Amino acid sequence: MAQFLRDDDGVSNPSRTPSLTDVVERAIAANPSRRRLMLGGLGAAAVPFLAGLTGCGSGDGGTPAPASPAAPAAPTVPAAVSERMLGFDAVATSRADAVVVPRGYVATPFLPWGEPIDAFGPAWKADATNTAAEQERQVGDNHDGMTYFGFDAGGTGYGDRSDEGLLVMNHEYINPEYFYSPDVDPADWLAPFTLEKARKAQAAHGVTVAHVRRAADGTWTHVKNSPYNRRIHGNTPMAIQGPAAGAAAMRTAADPAGVEVLGTLNNCGNGWTPWGTYLTCEENFNGYFGKTGASPTFTPLESRYGITAAGAGYRWHTVDPRFDVTATPNEPNRFGWIVEIDPFSPGSKPVKRTALGRFKHENAELVIAPNGRVVVYMGCDERNEYLYKFVSDGTFDRANPTSGANRRLLESGTLYVAKFEAGATAGDAMGTGTWIPLVHGRNGLVAAAGFADQAEVMIKARQASDLVGATMMDRPEWVAANPKRPGEVYCTMTNNNRRGTTPASSNAADGSTAAGAARPPVDEANPRSNNVWGHIVRWNETGADAAATTFAWDIFVLAGLPSVTDARRPSANVTLDNLFNSPDGLAFDGFGRLWIQTDGSFSDSGNFVGMGNNQMLVADPATKEIRRFLVGPSGCEITGIAWTPDRRTMFVNVQHPGEVGDHPNRPRHGDGTTLTDDQIARAPTAFSQWPTAGARPRSATVIVRRTDGGPIGG
Ligand code: FEO
Ligand code: CA
Ligand code: CA
Repeated sequence: MAQFLRDDDGVSNPSRTPSLTDVVERAIAANPSRRRLMLGGLGAAAVPFLAGLTGCGSGDGGTPAPASPAAPAAPTVPAAVSERMLGFDAVATSRADAVVVPRGYVATPFLPWGEPIDAFGPAWKADATNTAAEQERQVGDNHDGMTYFGFDAGGTGYGDRSDEGLLVMNHEYINPEYFYSPDVDPADWLAPFTLEKARKAQAAHGVTVAHVRRAADGTWTHVKNSPYNRRIHGNTPMAIQGPAAGAAAMRTAADPAGVEVLGTLNNCGNGWTPWGTYLTCEENFNGYFGKTGASPTFTPLESRYGITAAGAGYRWHTVDPRFDVTATPNEPNRFGWIVEIDPFSPGSKPVKRTALGRFKHENAELVIAPNGRVVVYMGCDERNEYLYKFVSDGTFDRANPTSGANRRLLESGTLYVAKFEAGATAGDAMGTGTWIPLVHGRNGLVAAAGFADQAEVMIKARQASDLVGATMMDRPEWVAANPKRPGEVYCTMTNNNRRGTTPASSNAADGSTAAGAARPPVDEANPRSNNVWGHIVRWNETGADAAATTFAWDIFVLAGLPSVTDARRPSANVTLDNLFNSPDGLAFDGFGRLWIQTDGSFSDSGNFVGMGNNQMLVADPATKEIRRFLVGPSGCEITGIAWTPDRRTMFVNVQHPGEVGDHPNRPRHGDGTTLTDDQIARAPTAFSQWPTAGARPRSATVIVRRTDGGPIGG
C-alpha cells in the first residue's frame, strides 16, 4: 500500500577489503577461461541463493544456466560477453493506463485476479458477482511477491528448467470497490456486509500455485489440467511449528492445542528456499481484526501490533467471530509469521515457522552462509520498526539440496535484530552495526520483563526489539542479497513521515508503544526528517559471512528530486532521468542487477513531480547507476519479481491498478471533486481498465520478454 517520505549523498561501498567474489573476478579477468571452473567452485562454497532460481553456482554473469534434457531449444543465446549490466534504453515516466517497457521488449498480462485456477475453476464474472466458493477456485487479488520454480528434467519435482515450472505468487489484500458487486444500499455498496462477503475476501488472499509452460516462440500458457495448480487462502488449514507452537497465547477454542490455524493473510513479499519451497510473508494482519464492545481496551501486545476496534475496513470481525478479538483474543497471535509452502506437493500442509519471529513481514531473503547455516533476512514494514535476520541451527547439505534434513532448517535457529551506529565518522552516510540476538534469558529478555520463554520472545518480537535497543528504521521493506558479493545485502526504506518531527518519542522499552506511534529523531542510517521519498540501505556482513553478528553499512541511494538542494537532497545517482519515490520491492537477478520496484505517490506533482506512475528500475550495484525499465498502469504499484533460470523471461506483478488516490487522471465530478469509493464501485471502469479494455481493473502478472529472445535487462 502506498505511503510517503526524504536524503544525502550516496557513498562508496563500505567494504574495505576485497570480497571473495572480487578475488575471483580478478582472477577471471587475468584468465577468462577460468570463469566457469571458478564460479562453480565459488557456488559450492559461498554464493547465496537468490531470486530467479539460478542454482548454486549458476548465473555467472552471462553463461546460460545448464539446459535440462527436456528443455526445448532456447532462443539464440548471445555470447556471454555481450550481456550488459544495463543493456536497455531507459523508458520515460508515464501517467497512462498501460505498462511501458523498453524498446525491444514485450509485456503480456497473465493470470489476473479471477482467472480459473484450473480446468474446473469457474470463469471470472466481469460484474464481480463470483461467490466465495468460486473465488476459492480462482486466482486471488492484489498480486505481490512471486517465485518461479522450474521443474526437474523428469517433470516431477524442483529443478532448473526454464520452459516449464510452477509460478507461485502472493495475494496481499483486496480493493473492495472493485472486488464486490454493489449491494442494495444506495449509500454503501458493501452493505449489508455478510459472512459470504467476508469469505469471498478471505478466499482472494493467500497464495496461487500455477503450472506454467513456455512454448518455442517464448509465449507462456497456464497448464490448466495440471494437479499442481492450487489455491491457498484465508481458510486453508496450516500447521504452527517452532518455539511458539502450542504456547498459551497461540491457543483458541477451535484449536486448544495451539498447533493449527486457518489461513494466511496479507501475503506481501516472499522468499524461496534452495530445497524448493516457497515462503509467504504475513504483513498487515492486524487490519483484519476488530474488537467489539462498548469501550474495548487493548493489551500492550495488541496495541504494539496495531489491533484496533474497527480494523482497517474489511468488516470481517462484524460477521466472523474469529476476527473479533473480544470473542477470539488469541487469534491475532496466529498471524504475522513466515509460512513455508511446498508447491511440488499439492496436498502438503503449509507451515507457519515461528522461529523466524512475529511482526509485519515484508519479504524473506534466504542465503547460505559459508558455514552452511541458512540465513533469512526480513524487514518489519511499519514506521520506525526493525530489520531482522534468522540464522538456522542446522547446516545446509549442499550435496542433497532437497533432502529431508534441509527441509527442516527453518524449524530452529536464532532471530537477530539490527542496531545501526554512526561508525568512526559522523555524517558520512556510512557506519557500523550489530545483530542482537532475541533469545530468552539474554539481553534482558527475561520473565520479569514480560518474556516468560522463547515462545513469548517470538510472539512479541517487536517488544523484544524495543527492549534490546534495536534501531528504528524508515519502514524496512524488501531485503535483497547480492549474488556477486557474498555478505553484501540491501534493504529498501520506503518512506517515513514520523521521524525528525516533534514531539520526539521512541518505541518504549517496555513494549507499550502503539504501532506506528513513535517519532524518533533522525540518525545516520535514517537521515531525513519526514522522509517522503525513501532510500536504500546496504550493508556488508563482517568477513562476507551472512551469519556474522557485525556489519558495515552505507546508503546506496536516497531517492528524491535533484532540484531539492537542501538537507533533503537526493543522492548523486538520482537524476532527472530516473526519478522515483518509495522503493519497495527489491531483488537481484542472477547476473547481479538490482531491480527496484516502487509503491509510492503517483500524483506526479509537488514532491513527486516528474515521477509518474509507480515503476521498476535497475541499478548497477558497483557504479550505482540507476535506469528506469518499466512503468505501470494507473493507480498501481509494481511488486513481485521472478525469473526463469535462463533469465529469458521475467515475471512482474502489477498490484491494485485503478486505486484512485491522488492520480492526476482520477475521475472527477463537474465540480472537480474526486469520485468516492462508493461511486467507483458503481462505475468500475471509470478510471482504469487495465489489463482488459472495457472491464474493471484487475491485479495481474506481466510476462516480460525480449523480442530477440535475449536476457532481460542485458
Ligand atoms: Fe505489503 Fe510493505 O508492502
Ligand atoms: Ca558515519
Ligand atoms: Ca511491499
